[in-house]
Amino acid sequence: MINWSRTRSYFPVTRELAYLNHAGVAPISTRVLEAIERFTAEATRFGALRYARSYDREIERVRDRAAILLSAQREEIAFVKNTTEGLGIVAAGLTWNRGDRVVTCNLEYPSNVYPWWQLKSQGVETVMLAGVDGALPLDSLEAALRDPRVRLVSLSSVQFGTGARTDLAAVGQLCRERGVLFCVDAIQSLGCFPIDVEACGIDFLSADGHKWLLSVEGCGLFFCARRSLDLLTPRVVGWRSVTDNQDFDRYHMDLQPSAGRFEEGTPNVPGIFALGAAIDLLLEIGVELIGARVLELSDQLVRGLTERGAEVLSPREGGAASGIVSFQLPHEAPADTAKRLQAEGVFVIERRGGVRASPHFYNDASDLERLLKAL
Ligand SMILES: Cc1ncc(COP(=O)(O)O)c(C=O)c1O
Repeated sequence: MINWSRTRSYFPVTRELAYLNHAGVAPISTRVLEAIERFTAEATRFGALRYARSYDREIERVRDRAAILLSAQREEIAFVKNTTEGLGIVAAGLTWNRGDRVVTCNLEYPSNVYPWWQLKSQGVETVMLAGVDGALPLDSLEAALRDPRVRLVSLSSVQFGTGARTDLAAVGQLCRERGVLFCVDAIQSLGCFPIDVEACGIDFLSADGHKWLLSVEGCGLFFCARRSLDLLTPRVVGWRSVTDNQDFDRYHMDLQPSAGRFEEGTPNVPGIFALGAAIDLLLEIGVELIGARVLELSDQLVRGLTERGAEVLSPREGGAASGIVSFQLPHEAPADTAKRLQAEGVFVIERRGGVRASPHFYNDASDLERLLKAL
């Protein structure tokens, strides 16, 4: 049994706020704070003197932990500065032919749209499938995949605006059957719901650390399946991309035989320290339990909102429910509702025409009550 009030005590933000914006930028825990302080103490006292011993060891430890989180191999993980960078590695790295198609959806955050639109000059067309009631119907994806020109499907694991959760296993299966590559923007679920990249047939995945992973901004994870590594040409290559990269005297272009080849230069070391502590906490609790808890809290919120006459915009049936609950009041613009709630210490924001609330595992009934009362 998890002691949820103990895990809540790791989040001092709860003293002031009902923080319900994990789909935006999450607060950090004392566990992450301690890891950052470990880094700053080391850098302050010893600078780079002990790099090899402490920093590199921690980077590789965090890579191992990230691999566990994704059910991946450590060689399939690279640290990136944000979600967009990982998606850009895929868009820029694949060898495209004129007439190729990328399939995505009009519910996506722009980070999963513009990297594909940027390929237009190479003759690549982006198919923007239409969301229906806040979610992408699987049959419209299936129909789009009948077109043999489709090379890649790129979707979010959870839609940022509506909260619709994608059935990654089903999409992966469709892609596999048709020999289409599958790329996932996982920032709206990684750390909140379990994911098995192998079982879902995912080729590429990217997520920054500052939402459900509960880490800081500017340091995230990129996954590239081993089978798909050689499909990507790294467009930015630097000293760290190659094997034997501590030998600065011998120039060579033997790229690392792993996703490490996409880490072209000095990594974001404090970011990786933070990410490591954040992932440790998630794995300690267990992502299965976190997912169940988040769904319980979001269900509770949906019930409370409905009782108070709010319209819930997020799809909640058929496995579509996530940690994001979007709603609106009958006689108030969502941006005004969000502003009013923020003034009461309830951190929600307006997105895609709704007030978006996104509780994580350390929130509790008192946070939801505070929101409902402030309504
Ligand atoms: C689905 C999704 N992808 C990506 C991002 C952010 O991208 P990046 O990590 O590149 O800043 C967001 C932020 O709101 C998002 O909701």
